[in-house]
Amino acid sequence: METLKSVETTRNRLSEIGFVFKSLIYLECAWIPTIADFDVKVIVGEGVGYSAQALEIIAVRIRELNELEPSFKTYRSEIPKVFEEALNISDPLEKACFICQISTSLLQEIKVLEENIDTLFDQPTVWVVYSVKSILEHKLREWTDIVEHDRFIDKKIFAGPIDHTLATLETVKPTTIDQPLRPDCLIQSPQNILDKPTNELLKSKDGICRFIHFIYSEIEVSAAEICARNISDFGPVMPLQFTFDMARQVMDEMRHAKMAKKLLYKYGGELGDFTYRNHVWNSYLLGDSLAEKLAIEQIIGEGNGLDTTALSISIFDELGLSDLKTYYEFLQADETIHCAFGNRWISYLVDYDQSKFDDVIDQAIEKIGVSLPGFAPVDIDLRLNAEFSKEFIYRKLLKKPLTESI
Ligand SMILES: [Fe+2]
Ligand SMILES: [Fe+2]
Repeated sequence: METLKSVETTRNRLSEIGFVFKSLIYLECAWIPTIADFDVKVIVGEGVGYSAQALEIIAVRIRELNELEPSFKTYRSEIPKVFEEALNISDPLEKACFICQISTSLLQEIKVLEENIDTLFDQPTVWVVYSVKSILEHKLREWTDIVEHDRFIDKKIFAGPIDHTLATLETVKPTTIDQPLRPDCLIQSPQNILDKPTNELLKSKDGICRFIHFIYSEIEVSAAEICARNISDFGPVMPLQFTFDMARQVMDEMRHAKMAKKLLYKYGGELGDFTYRNHVWNSYLLGDSLAEKLAIEQIIGEGNGLDTTALSISIFDELGLSDLKTYYEFLQADETIHCAFGNRWISYLVDYDQSKFDDVIDQAIEKIGVSLPGFAPVDIDLRLNAEFSKEFIYRKLLKKPLTESI
């Protein structure tokens, strides 16, 4: 490949790399619920975050190169074909291998691009290449525990000739499943394993394990699956930023699951020691529109969760559980962003109309039968940080007229 000599050439190369990342995101999101093993599920979920971070950086550069709404295109017939064929893969480890192979091909292509950029005329693309290369290297490092090194092969999807008459925008459309799979060791039961208030529960090792097991199996993994499902179902019809936000959350929730697993094992527990209810996932399914689904997960579930984290951190402190305290402090930092995603995208979906926003929340509350706020005192600072409006905090959470004292 010769030095990239025009804006158009750089844009086309970035566009095609973006097309592959976008196709990979849809595939990864559809595959997440089909994988029962939590370790593999988690790593595929984190992969969505890596792919989306790279795509976001590429999209920014394509916009700078004056394509205001980046439309990722491929000019090689081989690329869509490889993704279509991947839809037939059913074995989880084969899915993992495919993701590794495509990521390896992307890394190779980025290196080719790096060698051919005009570093004077096109210097900002150099930073794009450095960033994407580093993201892919990190992503592939994560996989070394799951996929054998000799399976990290370049699928050579970028090897075929470029034919501009073949430009295609259509990414793969994988179907997904309605009930995410779980490992055999994890049994579903209607019983709530949290059988005491948190401050009582955490006084015994068994109680601590119950608490962490609940977070790991009931909350974190399901939250990631919900966001992946939002990308699968709504990504193609929403602005690109929606996919980036949901992908960030998929990655965060999967990281939270890893953190919970680490703590669970530290306290002598393991996955399957207790049952799970599948409550978070089933509540999400009760939403009839994207706005309602976001209300159920990001506004009601995670919004009430924000107040609960503040209360839990003080309980951990009192009981001297410093590892749980640290865990929750980092969770809290991520959860404010997740609630903000809910606030931003519901507002977008209701044309920034506050009364329509409230209607969505009220309908979601009715469908899942929970209270707003939850049982913990409303943490006004956290709620504001999570982009809940002052008006919403007063009207719906504090249930009193808006005053100046907030
Ligand atoms: Fe989380
Ligand atoms: Fe979250």
